[in-house]
Amino acid sequence: MAKKVGIITSGGDAPGMNAAVRAVTRCGISLGYQIIGIRRGFKGLLDDDFSTLTLRSVSGIINSGGTALHTGRCPETKTKTGMNKAVKTINELGLEGLIIIGGDGSLAAGNALSKRGVKVINIPASIDNDIYGTDETIGYDTALNTAVEAIDKIRDTATSHDRIFVVEIMGREHGFLTLDVGLAAGCEFIVVPEIKPDINKLALELTKGKERGKTSEIIAFAEGSGSSVDFAKHIGKLTGLEVRVSNLGYIQRGGRPTARTRILASKFGYEAMQLFHKKQFNRLVGLIDGKIVSTSVERAIKREKTFDEKALKLLRNLSV
Ligand code: F6P
Repeated sequence: MAKKVGIITSGGDAPGMNAAVRAVTRCGISLGYQIIGIRRGFKGLLDDDFSTLTLRSVSGIINSGGTALHTGRCPETKTKTGMNKAVKTINELGLEGLIIIGGDGSLAAGNALSKRGVKVINIPASIDNDIYGTDETIGYDTALNTAVEAIDKIRDTATSHDRIFVVEIMGREHGFLTLDVGLAAGCEFIVVPEIKPDINKLALELTKGKERGKTSEIIAFAEGSGSSVDFAKHIGKLTGLEVRVSNLGYIQRGGRPTARTRILASKFGYEAMQLFHKKQFNRLVGLIDGKIVSTSVERAIKREKTFDEKALKLLRNLSV
């Protein structure tokens, strides 16, 4: 009888999760495993919500956003009772182990299950791109392109009206997405939680920009930096210029994955099943310097991804 492996998408959905599920399922089946799709994240282990995935049940999903397995944030994974129930379901189902696709919360839950003897491989998926052990997470490139396209549109209004725009970008406690959005959309400034902004200096620079003939000025503002509305009001007062806020919100999480996201997800899915088959457990698949690698989950959890301050300087130098 084929050994069973469970697959979960958990935490915030990210475009490309489906492409990863497809890759895990098809690579897993070719290695002789039966793949069990757990639905609605870890909740599926608590509510016994799962079904076998087949070569055909993952057809036609490589190009769709969200996750066909559904997902959720599951606070029970932080409790002893929740974890015990999850392990019980895994044992009753006869699962050899789990492939978990998600962000930092999923890493933590996977690690907790590992400590209880479950064989786990993690695949990083989050639009925030905030996971140590990979230069890129599944979904990131898609969210980046969505946000850049949106700012290109906002730029039209900003230029036509000679306005300043504060555009809020997702990313919970980190500004990785905001930095790349800022670079790609030619934003004048970014505000990120990693670097405390000097608001007086920023206001002065915005005014100087106007004096140099700039019609529009756009500040990409990471959600973890506080209230974009309060920030915009403050900037308006300091500069006397017209400021508007646009919160891009959930449009950044959805949508068809870009080709880059789909390729990354496919490679991660393949690598995850290879690691599982080679019995290299509690590892996080990643992309580093263009190569598919893996890191121990313990290490990925302990370390923080570094913020690229050089890229931030470049952004400022290019937005003169
Ligand atoms: O982790 C992805 C993310 O979209 C963050 O950027 C954001 O802070 C968070 O999820 C929002 O989560 P939820 O949709 O569960 O409120």
